[in-house]
Amino acid sequence: MKARIAIDGPAGAGKSTVARAVAKKLGLAYLDTGAMYRAITLAALNADVELSDGRALAALTAKVELDIQINSDGENVIFLNGKNVSKEIREPQINRNVSYVARCPEVREIMVSKQQEIGRRGGVVMDGRDIGTNVMPDADFKFFLTASLTERARRRLAELQEKGISLTLPEMMAEITMRDKIDSERECSPLQAAKDAIHLDTTEMTIEQVVKFIVDIVVGS
Ligand code: CDP
Repeated sequence: MKARIAIDGPAGAGKSTVARAVAKKLGLAYLDTGAMYRAITLAALNADVELSDGRALAALTAKVELDIQINSDGENVIFLNGKNVSKEIREPQINRNVSYVARCPEVREIMVSKQQEIGRRGGVVMDGRDIGTNVMPDADFKFFLTASLTERARRRLAELQEKGISLTLPEMMAEITMRDKIDSERECSPLQAAKDAIHLDTTEMTIEQVVKFIVDIVVGS
């Protein structure tokens, strides 16, 4: 069976970019599990569902049609009820609300079972918060990426500026601090490094260096 690689870490640690590049280099599929929680958040906001209402969120999650495809660049393209929402799910309103949806156990149960189904096929790089601990506890390789708060906020700002969205650095630092706090403190599969994960602080590293670090370990093992 082809390798299964878990990449976890807090917001803005570079997981998605790195995971996609690693998948491309190794000829594996890539699954952005955060995009799934983002899509459910978009559906909930569109349907005016109260984000603290677990039952309503669960009913909505069971009802929506979520489809993930991989394009020729290896990016995940997310369809919600048949509509491509890949851009919409990156907007600030989703950033601000996604952790409230992701802490709901019923939502996680449905998302995790979809993720595990994909994991069982093998040959996949998955990034998220609970991949090494909960989604693929038996992954062949587990990485936990971190970076300083300031660096993570800077990276996020640069991404948003490319899209014409402007926030200040302190605003961005406050937003990701809040998200990390909710993600780490929730009861159901919180953001946590697996005991057997390889930790990497990417603060001073380029994307290429992080990708090389991971690929070298996978290929050299
Ligand atoms: O890219 P970024 O690090 O900003 O976030 P993301 O990976 O798109 O994930 C967005 C949110 O989804 C996180 O802040 C978590 O609340 C949630 N998430 C989760 O709970 N479990 C995962 N496996 C992936 C994401």
